Amino acid sequence: MNSKYLLTLSICFLGLVACKTTQPNSQNTTLQKPAENQGFYQFTNEDPNASPFFAKKASVYGKNGMIIATHPVASQVGADILKQGGNAIDAAVSTQFALAVVHPAAGNIGGGGFLVYRDKNGQSYTLDYREKAPENASRDMYLDENKNIKAGQPSWLGHLASGTPGSVDGLEQAHKRFGKLSWKQVLQPAIDLAENGVKLTAREARGLNNVKADLLKYNPTKTYFMKTDTAKWKEGEILIQKDLAKTLRLIQEQGRKGFYEGETAKLLLAEMKRGGGIITQKDLDNYHAVWREAVIGNYKNLKVISMPPPSSGGIALLQLLKFVEPYPLQKWGWHSDSTTQVMIEAERRVYADRSKWLGDPDFAKVPQKELLDAEYLKKRWQDFQFAQATDSKIVKGGDIIGYESPETTHSSFVDKEGNAVSITTTLNGSYGSKVVVDGAGFLMNDEMDDFSIKPGVPNVYGLIGNEANAIAANKRMLSSMTPTIVEKDGKLMMVLGTPGGSTIITSVFQVFLNVAEHQMSMQQAVDALRFHHQWMPDRTTFEEGAFTEKTLIRMRERGYKLDSQKNTIGRMDCILVLPDGTYEGGADVRADDTAVGY
Ligand code: GLY
Repeated sequence: MNSKYLLTLSICFLGLVACKTTQPNSQNTTLQKPAENQGFYQFTNEDPNASPFFAKKASVYGKNGMIIATHPVASQVGADILKQGGNAIDAAVSTQFALAVVHPAAGNIGGGGFLVYRDKNGQSYTLDYREKAPENASRDMYLDENKNIKAGQPSWLGHLASGTPGSVDGLEQAHKRFGKLSWKQVLQPAIDLAENGVKLTAREARGLNNVKADLLKYNPTKTYFMKTDTAKWKEGEILIQKDLAKTLRLIQEQGRKGFYEGETAKLLLAEMKRGGGIITQKDLDNYHAVWREAVIGNYKNLKVISMPPPSSGGIALLQLLKFVEPYPLQKWGWHSDSTTQVMIEAERRVYADRSKWLGDPDFAKVPQKELLDAEYLKKRWQDFQFAQATDSKIVKGGDIIGYESPETTHSSFVDKEGNAVSITTTLNGSYGSKVVVDGAGFLMNDEMDDFSIKPGVPNVYGLIGNEANAIAANKRMLSSMTPTIVEKDGKLMMVLGTPGGSTIITSVFQVFLNVAEHQMSMQQAVDALRFHHQWMPDRTTFEEGAFTEKTLIRMRERGYKLDSQKNTIGRMDCILVLPDGTYEGGADVRADDTAVGY
């Protein structure tokens, strides 16, 4: 592209932005600071009954540390580790192993994840312990001879759905490099919880009851996740996991060898053999987590540090932020028609790019720099207009040169010194592939479904993948997980992240803007109602009440398809550092998520 062309493009773009900021009918919704001590900003708009919040929850504060995870017991484990003198990495590793016990739907040792770490000196690191396709995996393994999706062999259930797990290797690498306490110490809480049992929350009991039929189907030897053939779990009952305790003890004694070799590996391979899975000892031996360079960019005066490919999260988040940065979102107001419109249009273009360009960087070049290039983004925005929604059918991945489920889990950590960790980990679907490794007591992931099993065809969650994310032996599947850390003036400001499959990226985007633009506290930002658009299908889903009727009318007049949904979107567990250095924890009110300050 020659410089004259670029100059013309820039001028066009600046002109477009300038004239489009005088958009029609921006609804008057503002968040106003309340009288001192009131705690919450007040939302005022045309509808006096409207509330921006799913529910209100009190913020939790800490001076010496903050742990937020999706289960109160796991958060407490992390806080106890800090009190014993551990740092944020020790707390993170200990909490992750505890989640594998108390939150079997997504906490795991049979899955994988991503970790973003910013140390007290401002150095950032990311660790990719995403699962890998086994060596015997192949591009068309879920297709029949006519290249149609095989009946009866879903990529999200059963033994063939699993990639080689990465969690144990990843957590060991993180601890070896940055941990302070002993490996024995950080493993012990999880072992105790598995051995002595954990009290089920109402949500965990319901989850286990709901998954029972699938567990029975894939595990002929009944597992302890099923109470009995007929009885259902109830809140407050104790779940004891002796097999998992044994596996965790092997990991405590031998590190990665306790999982990828010996007794645990033997049980995992026997399980694969029993159900037609393809993971081999060679896959286990070859699994190694990878330290990668963080994706870093700016939004106004804030520095955003996030996860690079094979997660799409970091690149997508920065693209979204760059698209909306020129607009006066704060002035327009939270979820006003204009604010929502530019956010949706950004999402439309970003998810189209995700589908076209993103995949495992170890297999194909991901044009990371190009996707974040200012001129490229300006060009992508040229067909935006306030008068009418852009049609997703005419938005393709940009000219330069997936898939997820809602069940994943995020946790955020910061210690006294200001070391911060953001981790998102997943089995993919709720309870992963539903296969429990017999005798070892852990669930296997169904992460193969995060590949594009047939390029161009949407998966069960509606995301479309392409060549860059086609299956190949030893390749990592594309993810949307977006563990993120934000800096202001060179200091730690936010730790962000959530589960939610394809909605992860848009949830992180919204909570970031709720704080950065709409002046919310972290708890408010997390509690605020959310919406989601992902290019295809061309519609916006939103949590009930996220928009006023008037906003909906205005948006629909401009061609937006907006549907409210009963299901919640995301479970953000985030930390904000207040100007005096106090940590504010925002644990999502939508589930069991709990902040423990110290
Ligand atoms: N399995 C969810 C994700 O990786 O995005």
